[in-house]
Amino acid sequence: MKKRSVRELDLPGKRVLVRVDFNVPVKDGRVTDDTRIRRAIPTIRYLLSEGARPILISHLGRPKGEPDPKYSMDPVSRSLGELLELQVLKLDAAVGPEVEEALDDWDGQGVALLENSRFYPGETENDPELSGQLARLADLYVNDAFGAAHRAHATTVGVAELLPPAAGLLMEEELDNLERVLREPERPLVAILGGAKVSDKLGVIESLLGAADTILIGGAMCFTFFKAKGYEVGQSLVEDDYLDEARWLMEEAGDRLVLPIDVVVADRMAEDADSRAVEVDRIPNDHMGLDISLGTVGIFRGHIERARTVFWNGPMGVFEMEAFARGTEDVARAVAESEAMSVVGGGDSVAAVEKLGLGDRMGFISTGGGASLEYIEGRELPGVAVLPDGKGGA
Ligand code: 3PG
Repeated sequence: MKKRSVRELDLPGKRVLVRVDFNVPVKDGRVTDDTRIRRAIPTIRYLLSEGARPILISHLGRPKGEPDPKYSMDPVSRSLGELLELQVLKLDAAVGPEVEEALDDWDGQGVALLENSRFYPGETENDPELSGQLARLADLYVNDAFGAAHRAHATTVGVAELLPPAAGLLMEEELDNLERVLREPERPLVAILGGAKVSDKLGVIESLLGAADTILIGGAMCFTFFKAKGYEVGQSLVEDDYLDEARWLMEEAGDRLVLPIDVVVADRMAEDADSRAVEVDRIPNDHMGLDISLGTVGIFRGHIERARTVFWNGPMGVFEMEAFARGTEDVARAVAESEAMSVVGGGDSVAAVEKLGLGDRMGFISTGGGASLEYIEGRELPGVAVLPDGKGGA
């Protein structure tokens, strides 16, 4: 069943508190990647076109429940103003009498942006007092922050229980696309999972065992599987506490779980390290695996070419370093070239796709890292669960 949509709300003249995920990278007072801001623009424009007054709220970083200039929304406000080409009324707090007064005096031009919700300890505690203060600011509530929907916070859950809530357009798009992967995907469904830790991905792999035809494993987490198989992995990253789980997953999955056959190893994790490709059971004792190599890429590409649906989360190696970026880049190109419906999630795989300018060639790029993984794991996202069903049918 679809969630109630912002399109179902009676918007003209209403103040709408919009939870967005503007948790973006900021360096020297400038937003260095405005993707998440751009992705919220359709909902903001829709609200404006319907004559509503959007009051935006987001968290930024992980400040410790008190104001911290390092995490101010000022850079976000500038970036938002440039993208919207509209006035942004940036407030220096998120709640309180001064905010209420400023919103009462607001001429209603453009949008209002509240200060970082995590400047208040009540945000992460989902404190009813903070939710009540937020609810006083608006008539309606829209959640467009899929990336934060796995958090049960005051801005994602508490206030949604106090104001008439609905899902924003980005939230709807995210849920529709992830739903397409999980339920009745066009087959074969190929999942590509990477990243450093198998412990982060156990739940996802387990859930995908029930849904995917093939699961390709790259990134440092493959070394936990190799150690579980009894191979020597040298200095590669291994989670020794997860060897039993890795063994169990390999048994359950059989040939559906595809591990690398060769990897790039180096004596240290550095651009100028002495690196070379080896077969996975030939990793020298004083070397560590830092990327998948060409034989593996060939096998992965074959699966991706045959796929009708692809879900990708996590890089294949230490892609931030040129010397170990090739595996991730080749996989990104294979996904871009494939005719499959593809969903890419997670900050690192998305960054790799954007770096190669392949964003437009992916079916859907999720703005959620942790949220998309939890969704695929089959876990209920509190920020979604709190939204009522809509009239739109399944
Ligand atoms: C994210 O960047 O994944 C979301 O904005 C959630 O941020 P958090 O992990 O700090 O809650």
